[in-house]
Amino acid sequence: MNFLRVIGFSVVMLLAFMGISHLLPQVVPDTSEPVEVSTDGLDMDGMIALGETIYKGKGTCTLCHNGMGRAPDTLEMDMAATFPERLADPRYTGVAAGKEGAKAIEDYILESMKDPSAYVVAGFGKKGTNDTESPMPVVDKAPIELSAVEMNAVTAFLQDLAGLEPTVPLPSAEDTPVSDDSGDGGGEPAPLLTSGENIIGEYGCAACHDLNGSGADIGPSLYGIGKRMDRAGVIESIIAPNAVIADGFDADVMPADFGESLRGSELLVLADYLMSLPDTPPATDDGEEEPLATTALEVIDKFGCAGCHDLDGSEADVGPKLNGIGKRMSADQIKTAILNPNDTIADGFEADMMPDDFADQMDDSELSLIVDYLMNLPE
Ligand code: HEC
Ligand code: HEC
Ligand code: HEC
Repeated sequence: MNFLRVIGFSVVMLLAFMGISHLLPQVVPDTSEPVEVSTDGLDMDGMIALGETIYKGKGTCTLCHNGMGRAPDTLEMDMAATFPERLADPRYTGVAAGKEGAKAIEDYILESMKDPSAYVVAGFGKKGTNDTESPMPVVDKAPIELSAVEMNAVTAFLQDLAGLEPTVPLPSAEDTPVSDDSGDGGGEPAPLLTSGENIIGEYGCAACHDLNGSGADIGPSLYGIGKRMDRAGVIESIIAPNAVIADGFDADVMPADFGESLRGSELLVLADYLMSLPDTPPATDDGEEEPLATTALEVIDKFGCAGCHDLDGSEADVGPKLNGIGKRMSADQIKTAILNPNDTIADGFEADMMPDDFADQMDDSELSLIVDYLMNLPE
């Protein structure tokens, strides 16, 4: 089994399907190549975290499994008691019939995903079928198309939720190809999608965190995070930032939808990259400066504007949409909004969110590039 190809491919398919591929076309140049990542160190905690992301994101499970009565509210119900009841139900004749224990519940959960009509929870069947046909889609088929490893991750998550020790196998090194067949240097990963720096650049993390030399301090420094948190904790902080709020910082500042926009493989690479950061940022006293940006898009990239504003396809909404801004503001006002953001605060937004040190960092030529660009940005 070739787990990562499957993950890479199915995640791309799913992003397209869910209509959240907006981040991909402009920001990630090549999404056609399957991504290869080492799953080394993806321990059971990582599997559970991945399962939760899939359950709430690409698996679309919470579309039905919620409090609206369309399907059992698995995340809220006492599944520790419910799963054994299902197995003991005389109507249940599936693979785990007559069995008990964590392994039997694994089989039950996997069967629910691959063959939902094998057993239909009373009252939830399709209308008129007397609970013989389930309205739940088969999740390893299109359009959801979870891979075997992804279904195992979801199963680990649900088992953990029911207070059980997950029994699913971890993805093993043998699941990953030793080298890919593109022949470019014996399985050297595609540089763009598999480097932590690039993923950070694309998802705008450096607009808020001191990463890639940005010096930003809206979010906590992530240097030395490997000492404070384990890998599963880092994964959780990225996909569920409001679950635990870092001391001295506010909730609801970090975007809460990275679990949907990051591809599974990118999430794992990012977590490993953050875990490997040294305790302190690398010294930058060698006077080396970032080169001058020579196009507006380079300015946006260099200063991380798209991490907060819907620019260059990012759809970020920490700051206001800047489309059509040339109609409401003059070039001078835009200049001021960039150099002294706290002079006037855009309606519905808060002060002190936009970095106020662009005046020190931006060259005049960069400033006029971005102002021109914004003046001409269509509605
Ligand atoms: C279109 C709606 C829908 C979606 C999407 C959906 N389900 Fe379901 N699911 C149902 C319904 C309805 C039932 C109850 C009927 C049945 O037993 O098949 C159910 C039953 C289940 C059960 C058995 C629950 C129990 O109480 O015994 C599990 C486990 C499950 N789903 C997991 C999932 C997972 C995991 C996903 C996402 C990968 C998912 N479902 C996506 C509608 C859905
Ligand atoms: C709009 C600003 C913003 C962006 C963009 C952002 N973060 Fe954050 N992040 C924060 C803030 C504020 C906190 C602290 C509050 C909290 O824990 O949610 C935080 C917390 C974290 C933490 C937990 C740190 C700790 O010490 O507890 C991690 C890990 C993290 N972010 C990683 C990322 C990654 C990776 C990205 C990009 C994919 C990202 N952040 C993008 C603002 C941001
Ligand atoms: C960390 C998030 C963040 C980053 C990075 C950021 N901004 Fe902002 N920006 C905001 C927020 C929040 C506001 C609204 C509050 C305010 O007016 O200060 C804003 C306001 C603005 C406005 C005024 C909009 C209006 O309708 O009044 C402009 C123009 C602007 N930003 C341009 C930029 C440019 C250009 C960059 C990159 C050089 C950038 N921003 C980087 C968060 C950010």
